[in-house]
Amino acid sequence: MKNWQEIADRIIRKERETARRNRDRIPYTTEAPHRFNDYSAPDRIGWWTNGFWGGILWQLYAATGEDTFRDEAVRVQHRVESVLLDAGSMDHDSGFRFLLTFVADYRLTGNADSAGKGILAATNLAGRFHPKGRWIRAWNDPPGNDRTAGWAIIDCMMNLPLLFWASEYLADPRFAQIAMAHADTAGRYFIREDGSARHIVAFDPVTGGFLRELGGQGMGEGTSWTRGQAWALYGFSLCYRHSGDPAHLETAKRIADRWIDRMPEGKLLPVDFDQPEGDGPYDSSAAAIASCGLIELAELLKEDSVRSDRYLAAAEAMLSLLDTLDADYDPEHDEILRSCSVDYHGEAHNIPLVYGDYFYMEAILRLTGQAAFLW
Ligand code: GLY
Repeated sequence: MKNWQEIADRIIRKERETARRNRDRIPYTTEAPHRFNDYSAPDRIGWWTNGFWGGILWQLYAATGEDTFRDEAVRVQHRVESVLLDAGSMDHDSGFRFLLTFVADYRLTGNADSAGKGILAATNLAGRFHPKGRWIRAWNDPPGNDRTAGWAIIDCMMNLPLLFWASEYLADPRFAQIAMAHADTAGRYFIREDGSARHIVAFDPVTGGFLRELGGQGMGEGTSWTRGQAWALYGFSLCYRHSGDPAHLETAKRIADRWIDRMPEGKLLPVDFDQPEGDGPYDSSAAAIASCGLIELAELLKEDSVRSDRYLAAAEAMLSLLDTLDADYDPEHDEILRSCSVDYHGEAHNIPLVYGDYFYMEAILRLTGQAAFLW
């Protein structure tokens, strides 16, 4: 059994140095060896991952109470604020970008101005809802182009907590109703009978009806892209926490059971569960996200101790492997997880990705009781 507190302490020690070196920047991945790049310039600020660095800083502030983390989190989120006025960048990933920055700020410091930014983001996300099909549109196309007008993706389950938060903050049930409607549609069209998840579903942009599955970032249609499975696992678990709908819990359990059946023993996680056996490519970000999902589900199911213990043990097994095989705690190096992948068919394999580090840190801090709940 690992000493999770010791691992948490190593992460915090390292991140103090990483935050100092990356002052006023928003990392995505490394470009030079062990050095993060910066996505805060105007041509990159709309990127979907730009909330995770703020999330790391807010988690560090919650865990340590050190003002430097709070000050830096506030500084970088003001860069992200410009995205609110950029229609082309405001896609469904408002949850990732604004829950982990402005809403985190509101939750941890009570900053009402930041809550207002969160409401603007939630309102935009709610506006992406297709009222006939009852799903949330994922991405944007240039004006006059409708290529992705009917596309929804499983990742969106992780953006729904922004809507639940808005309903709670405003005492206005409409946002939560949209979140629950999207989750019901996702349960029907994204989650297969065996508990695996599709990445992209194309719906008819006019009628809203189901057209077909697309392979997306996984190996192809019908396969199981691991990060998509992880988004589904954590997303449905969080959705149940907010909605209390037993159907969302049943879906989360099915996804978790399928995940546990397929997760490899003693080695890093593949990018797609269906990829050929061999040396990768790997995706440690998916392992970190799924660990958070399993920890969440274990907590939600405390009264069913057999199931709860099984989910927690699976999360601990994955985190233990990440600690042993992949995590870099050297304070001179910016990244923690080294073996993440953007997708199966692209070239960005076995690299650091800021969301891998965010979810690894969140999972470890959850095990030590030091995490802030930001979802
Ligand atoms: N589309 C978000 C992701 O790469 O997981």
